[in-house]
Amino acid sequence: MSKAITRRVKRQLKRVVQPAVRRLGPASELPTEPLSTRWGTDRGTPIDQHYLRRFMERHRADITGAVLEIKDRRYTASLGRDVARADVLDIDASNSKANIIADLAAADGVPPDSYDCFVLTETLQYIYDLEAAISHAHRILKPGGVLLATVPCVSPLDQELREAECWRLTRNSFARLLGDAFGDGAVEVETYGNYASCTAWLTGMALEEFDADLLEEVSEVYVQGICARARKALPETGGSRADER
Ligand SMILES: C[S@@+](CC[C@H](N)C(=O)[O-])C[C@H]1O[C@@H](n2cnc3c(N)ncnc32)[C@H](O)[C@@H]1O
Repeated sequence: MSKAITRRVKRQLKRVVQPAVRRLGPASELPTEPLSTRWGTDRGTPIDQHYLRRFMERHRADITGAVLEIKDRRYTASLGRDVARADVLDIDASNSKANIIADLAAADGVPPDSYDCFVLTETLQYIYDLEAAISHAHRILKPGGVLLATVPCVSPLDQELREAECWRLTRNSFARLLGDAFGDGAVEVETYGNYASCTAWLTGMALEEFDADLLEEVSEVYVQGICARARKALPETGGSRADER
């Protein structure tokens, strides 16, 4: 190789490779601790709230009538319309906001056909018997009632509840589990997140610290979480189903 070519190759390497290495940093300089171990709540709004809120806002028309939510009335209170009943279910008997203490996977005490809407956010990952939990979710909805459910995918375990965490689902497994209970045609599943949002989420950045434009791309590989809407079928009447959304 002539000296001139060697110089050109060296120049190119410097121009292309060095900035990339500088950007990533040597392994010894990569952060070993997250910015926050509390989903960024100690720095601002957790990044997943951006996506969950937007999903719930899009489906706010479903949050009506008799509504059941887990842990508290967060979405029922802020987005519900014409809410006739707002129940809260939790397995945690110390939760004073819950008026139904039950394991969703064994919720036989909750009467069938009770709710127009069940807001089931960020809970299924704690339940070992997912089929039973989803079957009860379906059973306690009224015919035509809607389940709005979300689960994490690329996400750290919860600091406080980590011993209880069982699962990370994919779009495929979530859609199949819901489809088995509600029927495939009754389930809409979508994912959110991308490489940038997953990285920010894992490191504990808050929503306010993150460039909002970077949240919008939806990656099929770097899936931060999954949202689903499933509707319980109306009884067969032989008539029109035009009233189904
Ligand atoms: C991380 S919180 C999420 C709930 C809240 N709706 C939200 O979106 O932030 C999970 C809740 O699920 C409850 N939980 C865990 N396992 C459960 C089960 N088998 N049945 C009912 N609730 C359960 C926990 O006690 C906790 O209140």
